[in-house]
Amino acid sequence: MTTTAAAPSLAELVESLAAEGVLGESWRAAFLAVPREVFIPEVIWREAGDDLMPLRRCDEPAEWLHRVYGPHYVVTQVDDGSPAGPDGRGRVATSSASRPDIVALMLEAGRVEPGMRVLEIGTGTGYTAALLAERLGAGNVTTIEVDPQLAERARVALTTAGYGEVTVITGDGAQGYPEGAPFDRVLSTVAAPQVPYSWVAHTCPGGLVVTPWNSAYKPAGLLSLTVESDGTATGGLVNTTISFMPLRDQRIARPAVADVVRDTDAPEVSHTDVHPSDLCNGDDAPFAIALEVPGCHREYEAATGDDDRWRVWFLDAGSQSWARFDYQPNADHWPVQQFGPRRLFDEATAAYQRWDHAGRPSVTRWRFILTPEGQRVELAPERRKHRP
Ligand SMILES: C[S@@+](CC[C@H](N)C(=O)[O-])C[C@H]1O[C@@H](n2cnc3c(N)ncnc32)[C@H](O)[C@@H]1O
Repeated sequence: MTTTAAAPSLAELVESLAAEGVLGESWRAAFLAVPREVFIPEVIWREAGDDLMPLRRCDEPAEWLHRVYGPHYVVTQVDDGSPAGPDGRGRVATSSASRPDIVALMLEAGRVEPGMRVLEIGTGTGYTAALLAERLGAGNVTTIEVDPQLAERARVALTTAGYGEVTVITGDGAQGYPEGAPFDRVLSTVAAPQVPYSWVAHTCPGGLVVTPWNSAYKPAGLLSLTVESDGTATGGLVNTTISFMPLRDQRIARPAVADVVRDTDAPEVSHTDVHPSDLCNGDDAPFAIALEVPGCHREYEAATGDDDRWRVWFLDAGSQSWARFDYQPNADHWPVQQFGPRRLFDEATAAYQRWDHAGRPSVTRWRFILTPEGQRVELAPERRKHRP
């Protein structure tokens, strides 16, 4: 095995996670015991402009180790295994080993304890499954990966590291795994904008479904749902900073401006006194807008000159609709152009105003409710303040 003096080690990684406060005592031993590098393929991918370029361990062993044991997420597959860019470059990361601090955060949020049986969705490299196996015993861990090559690679890595009894299923994790149900926990390491009800159905009453959630409008986070005895589950976002790739069949279109806007488009022009920072900044308003304006992706375009004129694009690839807000300094209203079957700026503004009239609820006041009929998201009643 090639290492250099400069390369960080597993022990250093674990110490830094503990020092950051993201890794509690109960997971520390597991993080120390699982050899992370066994799970990372020889070829990983690094960003190069808008593309991803292969980084081979044999060519750059120190850089490879820095990424594996540093505070990074490591891209392990692009474009579902067939690099789509020129000269073998990748366009979109389709599998990765998540950042170690985020893995720790998810495991802690899952409140996993010895004696539990866990279903992981999104095996990827197998690293998270190995941590679960180290803590719970490999026989208590089942993991599902949709990509057959990734699933096979993870099986080999798990066996090499001594966790060969983990059940690795090749299939669509959105279907859950009825053959192994019920589980104490379903932990997804792939985002579910619409949480599949099967995950609730395959979890014991009192158990948890923990999954990243994300949206086209950008708000994302970690969702924790408690399963009730009536077969429903309720919960909310317990973190609003993490972002994961979504389930294959729930991928979110994030079009570039040129993918939606054509020179021949004749937009409708109006003026607004709503400042886009109200629509875009922070978590609370964007979360409410994300719920009500599905499929709307936004892009900020910085000023090119020194006159502070910037713009925000609102883009929906599905309906080929777009809106453009042009900021000009020292004005109290601004031009908005809108084109296509949807009026995206009007939709976002209306959702913002409903959120404002509702008393500007914080993102943590929204409840996700899962039933066999699907997912709904509602505002929880405001807690009464107790007077002394
Ligand atoms: C962020 S990676 C998971 C990281 C992984 N837990 C690890 O430790 O390396 C997400 C994985 O979910 C997989 N995935 C996407 N959609 C899926 C689905 N419907 N069912 C199962 N796996 C899926 C992807 O192929 C990818 O490998």
